Amino acid sequence: MGFTWGVSTSAYQIEGGVAEGGRGLSIWDTFTHKNGLPTGDIACDHYHRYPEDVALLADLGVSAYRFSVAWPRIQPDGSGPANKDGIAFYDRLVDALLEKGIDPVLTLFHWDLPQALEDSGGWLNRDTAYRFAEYSGLVADALADRVRLWITLNEPFIHMTLGYATGEHAPGQALLFGALPAAHHQLLGHGLAVAELRARGAAAVAITNNYSPAWPQGDTEADQIAAATYHALHNRFFTDPLFGRDYPEIGLDPAVVHDGDLDIIAAPLDALGVNYYNPTGVRAPAGVAPLPFDLVPLDGYPKTDFGWPVIPDGLRELLGWLKQEYGEALPPIHVTESGCAYEGVDDPQRVTYLDGHIKAVRAAIEDGVDVRGYFVWSLLDNFEWAEGYSKRFGLVHVDFETQVRTPKTSYAWYRDLIRASR
Ligand code: BGC
Repeated sequence: MGFTWGVSTSAYQIEGGVAEGGRGLSIWDTFTHKNGLPTGDIACDHYHRYPEDVALLADLGVSAYRFSVAWPRIQPDGSGPANKDGIAFYDRLVDALLEKGIDPVLTLFHWDLPQALEDSGGWLNRDTAYRFAEYSGLVADALADRVRLWITLNEPFIHMTLGYATGEHAPGQALLFGALPAAHHQLLGHGLAVAELRARGAAAVAITNNYSPAWPQGDTEADQIAAATYHALHNRFFTDPLFGRDYPEIGLDPAVVHDGDLDIIAAPLDALGVNYYNPTGVRAPAGVAPLPFDLVPLDGYPKTDFGWPVIPDGLRELLGWLKQEYGEALPPIHVTESGCAYEGVDDPQRVTYLDGHIKAVRAAIEDGVDVRGYFVWSLLDNFEWAEGYSKRFGLVHVDFETQVRTPKTSYAWYRDLIRASR
């Protein structure tokens, strides 16, 4: 099998149709409406326009498309039997992809938790892990015969941090290190879901993590320690237990981890999904601080419209680190998100960004890392969480007034690259 070229999206960021097909409320509906923020009520209207979006994927020539299922479409209240209309939407989408020869890569959770589960504590509540496994089984009952790669969770680190530690994302809790149980319960849910997926004959199972090399900014020992602490939190906490190790000691109350949990989390995987955007600059905190590190900008690099530094070498570094750190335990890697925010339909900066990151993947492969796929984030400009519609990550421009889709310069560039590599 050759290298997989793909693109990624997620349900709440593109679907709209939030009150259709019996969909229940998610934490993002509640969070955006309650705080008067831009919402995903319409987003890219993909719920209605998916045939046009599948045609865009086909013209692009990708061999795989990573999308997520909205849990509240399947279980409007977070538990109980599958909502037939919700299943039917993804059934149609999967068939439309297969008709064009595109492999569906399905993420089960990309942050849109049913509000009913948040009302009982969300991911801080251990029971949510069991609810997630039940939901995963329902989706697999319907689609295991056609989905090529199953991804349980998208970026449990980011969901824990922005959703439960700082409150910038739904559900908007600001518990700092008190958020760590939300990480353990997500990982437990992942492990339980793997068993449900396997029981239904899922072709291949993975998890997608966000990774960011922690670069100390300063020469003191305290800066080195701060960077190591941040690395343990961002990268190792979500990877060590997948491959049979204990959690790094960063403050998780041991009582949260029950006997047997680590065995469940360490269920063998067919692939690891890696999302990479940039390294993180870290310094020792000054004075008495609430956290054991300060995050500081990395200067001297080009920046995206998000202000994120463009550092393709960070991707090569982190792929190399994964191989070195986890060795034989590490399954093949798919880069399941890589991309950048820039304005404009003519977007040469995005071409430069993608070119650099694809070269970094090639270099990592030459270094001996088993990387099997690269997925651009994202197909469409979309609802960029706390940033609303102000940050455009798409290969395809979306006019949010008219919903007109216009392929960008980067779309043509990626299409040509895929063709040339066949
Ligand atoms: C998330 C995407 C998001 C992207 C850009 C990733 O952390 O998985 O949903 O749009 O970053 O911020």
